[in-house]
Amino acid sequence: MGTRMGKSKARARKYKLREQAKVDTGIFDEKTMVNLGKFFNKKIIEKLNFVIARGKEADIYIAEAGSSEKVRGNQFVIMKFFRVETSSFFKMEDYMIGDPRFSRIKATSKYEVVKLWCAKEFGNLEIAGKARVNAPRPFMFNGSILAMSLIGDDATPAPRLRDIELEFPEETLDVILEEIRKLYRGNLVHSDISEYNILMSDNVPYLIDFGQAVVTAHPKAMDFLSRDISNILSYFEKQYGINREFAEVYKTVMK
Ligand SMILES: Nc1ncnc2c1ncn2[C@@H]1O[C@H](COP(=O)(O)OP(=O)(O)O)[C@@H](O)[C@H]1O
Ligand SMILES: [Mg+2]
Repeated sequence: MGTRMGKSKARARKYKLREQAKVDTGIFDEKTMVNLGKFFNKKIIEKLNFVIARGKEADIYIAEAGSSEKVRGNQFVIMKFFRVETSSFFKMEDYMIGDPRFSRIKATSKYEVVKLWCAKEFGNLEIAGKARVNAPRPFMFNGSILAMSLIGDDATPAPRLRDIELEFPEETLDVILEEIRKLYRGNLVHSDISEYNILMSDNVPYLIDFGQAVVTAHPKAMDFLSRDISNILSYFEKQYGINREFAEVYKTVMK
């Protein structure tokens, strides 16, 4: 047992070092480095630590918080680096066209679209915060990089809903639906709710990954809301055998 623990710890340390090396050896392109500089200048972060996740659209790093007022009370900051080259350009456009916040904006390149997407996630997190939804607090964005609060304990990011066995699945589902309802009342629909985009910290569910969230004025907002609800209901049915009637739940969320 002892040796196994020792080995996996050593592996974790090696992994950390390897990720740090990637940062040090310039895995970021020049534009990203310049954009990143501003987070240091504004004292949002003082050290970029290492990668904690490689998501669909972005690489997520953990950083040590700087001395800015904006990050006061936070020891760590999550940095989301949107990928420009491998971004799903057309999928992104789908969620921007129709959103009145972006109707007058013309993007001229892939980078411009990703920049808008990043700004959109920042704005969406602000709305979520105002609506008192459990979600990361946005600190700053610049170019294709977004800084937000860490969901988790100390330096450890919280696991995703899909990574753990819930102790109180009924109650957790209720809270998730309540978060979706609060968000909707704040005029936002997440549009990508799944067991991948919910983190569990101290038995409390947090919604993350707000890039694709749209305001309720978006012509497809209601379709996205229905899809969010059915996605989460089917996960809880499949995983925990919980049966809830979609129509009933939908009504409660809309209340
Ligand atoms: N604020 C955060 N706190 C802790 N972990 C996070 C945070 N934001 C993202 N993560 C981790 O990074 C992963 C990818 O982030 P996400 O925003 O979902 O990016 P993508 O759009 O690439 O899916 C998440 O599944 C989660 O594990
Ligand atoms: Mg995600």
